[in-house]
Amino acid sequence: RPLETESNEVSLEGFDHYMLKEIYEQPESIRNAMRGRLDEQDATAVFGGLNLTPQQLRGVERIILTGCGTSWHSALVGEYLIEELARIPVSVEYASELRYRNPPIDNNTLVFGITQSGETADTLAALRETKRKGHRTLAICNVVASSIAQAADGGVYLHAGPEIGVASTKAYTSQCCVLAMLALYFGRMRHLSYEGGKRIIEEMQQLPGAVQQALTCDVQVRDVAQKYKDVSNVLYLGRQYNFPTALEGALKLKEISYIHAEGYPAAEMKHGPIALVDEHTPSVFIIPHGTTYEKVLANMEEVKARGGPVIAIASHEDPQIESIADDVIRIPSVPEILQPIVSVVPLQLLSYHIALLRGCDVDKPRNLAKSVTVE
Ligand code: G6P
Repeated sequence: RPLETESNEVSLEGFDHYMLKEIYEQPESIRNAMRGRLDEQDATAVFGGLNLTPQQLRGVERIILTGCGTSWHSALVGEYLIEELARIPVSVEYASELRYRNPPIDNNTLVFGITQSGETADTLAALRETKRKGHRTLAICNVVASSIAQAADGGVYLHAGPEIGVASTKAYTSQCCVLAMLALYFGRMRHLSYEGGKRIIEEMQQLPGAVQQALTCDVQVRDVAQKYKDVSNVLYLGRQYNFPTALEGALKLKEISYIHAEGYPAAEMKHGPIALVDEHTPSVFIIPHGTTYEKVLANMEEVKARGGPVIAIASHEDPQIESIADDVIRIPSVPEILQPIVSVVPLQLLSYHIALLRGCDVDKPRNLAKSVTVE
């Protein structure tokens, strides 16, 4: 059995549940993920434990990101980040598939196992299998000295502190944060300019404040939860950096409130999910300002035209959204590459409040375990 932090060792500090406490800890956990890792002088990120030389890292031609559950969602965010900032091809693999799939892997491929607990059996097996084949493996992990941290050649700790709630919250935003720093680091070894790197550092430094501000939507989210607590199906839609957020929002709702939810890239809606839209099936649109804003807005209008209730997660500076969406939850504006870290916060809170109103055991949902140490 792996060492797991017992909940009675961690104080609730006045919160009703660990999940809520952990959601509220995010400004701090993100700060801890970044502490000492942003190098303003060289406009890059620094990591102490990668255990690879700059030459080895410079030679990386392909990256595989693997994990399970919420960690797999942060891998999807990492794919967008690394490909955009560092121009290195990235593939994202479910660890449970990767371990048996035996895909051809080129030399100079770096494999990252992403895991909160460091004990997930499939992630451990996928990492061991790729390492056995001679590939370099790194862990992005929260629990220090966990099995995966030890099995990997090196890695990056999240420093998020113990996460007790079974549904992952703060570990997810910290994973996204670490992946953004890795993208910055690899980017600065390649095409990303000094100015570009500097700008990203400045933007990342604003993140704890932005997440703090996002948390102020809690009261409003409670009202939205009250309104929709009895539905049976929910769609979550977003594009680009907000697509993994749609998946993560849907997963959070499924995990703790037992409501069926599906996340989709918003434009895929017309290839199936739109058939589900009716007055009993709300759609949550993650639609902060960005390159695909107008397109997602059009999808939102299509849902409205078919009588589907719409909840929008939108930027503060977006007056027109009120005329389409039934409910608007506001988040502060941050650059697109960092939106996943901010836009997930209201979705975590929404699932929390709906689960609470339905009388579910938020911290220990049925049938789920904090870390899945068996196949
Ligand atoms: C379990 C947990 C999820 C978690 C997943 C991966 O299913 O309930 O919350 O995302 O395992 O866990 P890991 O510790 O590897 O991130």
